Amino acid sequence: MEIKIFKNANDAAKTVETIFAKTLKSGDEVFGLATGSTPETTYARLVTSDLDFSNATAINLDEYYGLNSDHPQSYAYFMNKHLFNKKPFKHTYIPNGIAEDPQAEIDRYNKILEENPRNLQILGIGTNGHIGFNEPGTDFASKTQLVNLTEETIEANQRFFKKREDVPKQAFSMGIDSILDADHIILMAFGENKADAVKDMIEGPVTELLPASILQKHNHVTIILDEDAASKLS
Ligand code: F6R
Repeated sequence: MEIKIFKNANDAAKTVETIFAKTLKSGDEVFGLATGSTPETTYARLVTSDLDFSNATAINLDEYYGLNSDHPQSYAYFMNKHLFNKKPFKHTYIPNGIAEDPQAEIDRYNKILEENPRNLQILGIGTNGHIGFNEPGTDFASKTQLVNLTEETIEANQRFFKKREDVPKQAFSMGIDSILDADHIILMAFGENKADAVKDMIEGPVTELLPASILQKHNHVTIILDEDAASKLS
């Protein structure tokens, strides 16, 4: 694990942009992408950069179950707004939050993942150590699943919704095994509320109780932190 600590998320985003640029330059064009607050500064930099993603493929980690792509809190909407509408990709994939047959949607997504191995995977981390929506206790060998969100995750994501009852209770998530398939994984974490999860991910045991801890076993991981998120590291 390589750990880089920056003053703030904007400085961190410059480095992540450089990694995107290098990846593209080497001819690698399949990107696993995340949503949430954490990657926003990175996507803002990609949008204003001169990088060309018109031959690239984006595969997102997750989507709320029950929200369609034009719901403002859906992850499809987020990606269009923050990245794809301004910086077109050749192919973009995200689970269909309103799939009538969840198992068929899971199978469809796993096939997409099999056919498009990721060169670079972007991750955030939940305060409980989740990656994607793989909550504590998820099998490290998991593929795409329809997951039940924990109370902690619902609480953390409530800030994007008018009321707590509006936060979906389930989501489709790329599994941990598929996340680990990527050649290079960048996990970003900003803010003091991530400091405990970051410490456990880097310094704690590898355990399914802290899903992000499995990254200790991957051979090419870059952890990008701001000073607050790094504040509890020894
Ligand atoms: C989102 C995702 C989640 C978030 C995590 C942190 O696609 O997979 O794991 O990365 O919940 O969310 P933020 O960035 O909003 O703190």
